[in-house]
Formats: sequence, structure tokens, C-alpha cells
Amino acid sequence: MHLTKRFFTMNALAVLLSIGLTVLAGVIFVAAYTKVFAREANIQEWNRAFEVRTKINAIKNEALKREFEQLLDQRYQQELADRAREAGADAFLFRNREVVFATRPYNDMDLKKSFMLAGDAHYQDTLELDGKTYVFARAAYKLSSTEDGVLLLLAPIKLNTGFALLLGLFIAGFFILVFLLTNLWVSYTFSRGIIMPVSRLKNAAVRISEGDLSREIAEVGEGEVRELSRTLELMRLKLKESVYLQQKYDENRKFLVSSISHDLKTPVTSIKGYIEGIIDGVAQTPEKMEEYLETARSKALLVNSMIDDLLLYSKLDLNQLPYHFQQTDLAGYFEDCVADYRYEYEKMAIRLELIDELEKPVSVYMDRERLKRVIQNILDNAAKYADKADGRVTIFLRETRTSAIIEIRDNGEGIPEHDLPHIFDRFYRADPSRKDAGGSGLGLAIAKQIVEGHEGKIWATSVAGEGTRMMISLRKAQ
Ligand SMILES: Nc1ncnc2c1ncn2[C@@H]1O[C@H](COP(=O)(O)OP(=O)(O)O)[C@@H](O)[C@H]1O
Ligand SMILES: [Mg+2]
Repeated sequence: MHLTKRFFTMNALAVLLSIGLTVLAGVIFVAAYTKVFAREANIQEWNRAFEVRTKINAIKNEALKREFEQLLDQRYQQELADRAREAGADAFLFRNREVVFATRPYNDMDLKKSFMLAGDAHYQDTLELDGKTYVFARAAYKLSSTEDGVLLLLAPIKLNTGFALLLGLFIAGFFILVFLLTNLWVSYTFSRGIIMPVSRLKNAAVRISEGDLSREIAEVGEGEVRELSRTLELMRLKLKESVYLQQKYDENRKFLVSSISHDLKTPVTSIKGYIEGIIDGVAQTPEKMEEYLETARSKALLVNSMIDDLLLYSKLDLNQLPYHFQQTDLAGYFEDCVADYRYEYEKMAIRLELIDELEKPVSVYMDRERLKRVIQNILDNAAKYADKADGRVTIFLRETRTSAIIEIRDNGEGIPEHDLPHIFDRFYRADPSRKDAGGSGLGLAIAKQIVEGHEGKIWATSVAGEGTRMMISLRKAQ
């Protein structure tokens, strides 16, 4: 429910509840009072007072329609007496303050006093006489400039004003108390559902503004406050992501700069050296000259491929290259790979073989071009680090229930055990002296990026001196 609506509903509820409870309490109070004291608080007494009041006022109003002279008529007085008796009242007619008619014998003093009191009372219709309460009605007539006439109706009632006062006080007190309590309840509910969560959200926002993005913002409060906390949490996650990305960008830029200065500088320096040798005439014979140029060219090619690797690695690292996954038959794909490399391998006198141990065709989702890059890097390494006369590289295709496993096994020099965990790190080379052997040290780092982009895994086992096994697992397509 919207907060505004809730607020109004709860407040209305509080008022209604207070009124309801007060009425209930009043009824119980009256019932208990009459039960315990069993006296004047009788409701019938109240009803009767009300009735008497209505009746004598009716008589008075009716009398006011007549002339005072008519009231002095015998027949009217008879009727007046009957009606007054019926109402439980007495009627008195005054002419110039002197009684001219009375429905009962009276005490002159008392009647005079009643007359005075009734004349003075402007805002009430009861008077006290000798400790008794009377309700009265008074009709005044102007007869001439000096004469006047008055009809006074007096009816004794038993009104326990003490009880009325008590009841009034009780009801007022009770209402105030209940109203305060319900208000307290409304305030408490609101503070619990809104004010406290809002202040908690405020603290969270302050933390975020101070750069602390690690703490999760719990969904708290109700209605709009809950939505707000959800939005704030979303904002925190987005911010965290962008900060992370920013850090990664920075790191990448630093990495590019430092690798350009370290790894690219060496071949560029040597290119510079060979070219200067030619210019300075160090290479005197045409053969020497050609040798220098050839070396400079191969170094330039190396620089070129290093730059390619660097850019590719950096883009992969920032997830800037989209993958184009296609469902591909594994055996067919590797047959093509082997066909592509066979000629190159033959030139280096290395035997390349494919052993398909799959029971039935297995297909995987792969980006064919990109995975080629992985195989190329691994096969290049196998060739580069081959050290035996009968060089051999074998590709095995196997499967588990959910994955396809590709093993590329060579019988080259192998990788020392302590290097094994690092070969997939960027720029890691097991033997730094082989820096000149070509290669950026990024080959396996790129391979790892790409395989992980396929949600696959790549790892290696090796025995130094005997050979290396590169393993790739990819999830089967199904
Ligand atoms: N088949 C292999 N046999 C022996 N050593 C290997 C093989 N493959 C990788 N390595 C080791 O892992 C390191 C990292 O490989 P890579 O990332 O391709 O860089 P690079 O080939 O440019 O040196 C290599 O320097 C090498 O020491
Ligand atoms: Mg390599």
C-alpha cells in the first residue's frame, strides 16, 4: 500500500478505535456504576428528565401563542393543570410577581425564590431549591409598561449531577488516554516501517558516497521505502561493477605500457643495431648484408606478432571481443586442425597425430576461429619446445558425461614442476634465457582467456625431460 494511503488509513483507524473504545468503556462504566451503587444513575431517570423537559416546553410554547388574559380563563387553567400533572410538573401564573394561579399549594418564599432564579437563568433550565433539582420552563408576557405576566412550569427531577460529572470526566480522560496510546502506536509503527529504515538507508548512502561499496544494503521497510532500498542496492552493484571495470582498465593500460617498454624494446633495439650495422658499413659483404637484413626482418615480424598478441590479450581481458559460438562436431574440427598443421610439422620433422577415442560423435559450442588460436598456440609451443629426434605430438579426443576433453601431448623438454602453475600467467616463460626464441609469453595466457570464454577449463601436466600434456575441457552441446 502507498505510504500516504497507509498513513491516512492508520490515523483514521486510530481515531475510530479511540471513539469505539471510549463508547464501550462508557457503557461498561455506567453498567458497573449502576450495579455497584444501584441508585440514581438509573438510565430511566435520565429518560424521564428528558421527557419532562420536552413536555413542559411544549406546554410553554403552546401558552406563548395565547394572550396572557386567555391564560386567566378558568377552562384554560383546568387544562393547564391537567397537562402539568400529566408531565409531573406544577404550573404557576404570576401577575406583577404575585401568584394568581397555582396547580398546588405552595410555600410563598420558595416560590418567590424559584421565580427569581428562573428569571435570572439564561443558559440553563434547571434550578436548585432546598437541595432538590427542578427543571423549569418560563413564558413571559408584557401586559403594559408597568405590568407583566409570567407562566412558570416547575418539575422536580432526580438528577445525579455528581454522576454525570464523573461520567463526563471518565469519558474525557479515557478518550484522551486511548487516543494518546493509539497515536503512540501509529507513530511507533511508522517509525519502525519508515523512519528507522530511512535512516539506515541514509547511513548506507553515506557509506557509498565515502567509497565503501562492499556492504550489501538489505531490503528494509515497507512500500516506497522498500523500493528505495532495492534501488539503492542496485545502484551500489552497478557502481561496484563500474569501479571494478575502471580498475581493470587502468591495470590493463599500465600492463600495456610496461610490456611495451620491456618486451618490445629488446627486439626493436636489436633491429636498430642491425640496421645501423648496415649503414655504418659493418656488413661489408653482400652475404653479411643479407644476413643482417634477414635478422632485422625476423625481429620486425616478432615485434609485429607480439603487438598482435598484446592487443588480443588486452581485448580479451576487457571482454571487448564478442564470441560467435557455433555447434561444432569435435572430431571433424580437429581433423581440419591437423590437416592445417601437418605440412608445417612435417617441415620440422615432427609427427602430428589425431586419436579419436569418442564412442559416438560429440559436438560442442565453440567460436571456431578463436579456438583455432588456442590450438595454434599449443601446437606452436609443442614444436618450439621439442628436443628429441623423433618429435611427436598427439591429439586425443575423449569425453566424460558432460564434457569433451582434448589432450595435446608432446614428447618435448617438458616443464619443470615449479613452473607448471604459472605457465598460463601473462609473460611467464619457464626459462627466461629463451626470450629470444620468439613468442610473447602471452600464448598460453591468451589460450586460457579464450577457453574460459567458452566456460571451459585448460590445464597442463608435465614431466620435465619427457613431455607435456595440455588438457582442455569443453561442455558438450545438448
Ligand atoms: N609444450 C611445452 N613444452 C615445454 N614448455 C612449455 C610448453 N608449452 C609452454 N611451455 C612453457 O610455458 C611458457 C609459457 O608459454 P607461452 O605462454 O606460450 O609463452 P611463449 O611460448 O611465448 O614462451 C613457455 O615459456 C614455456 O616455458
Ligand atoms: Mg607460446
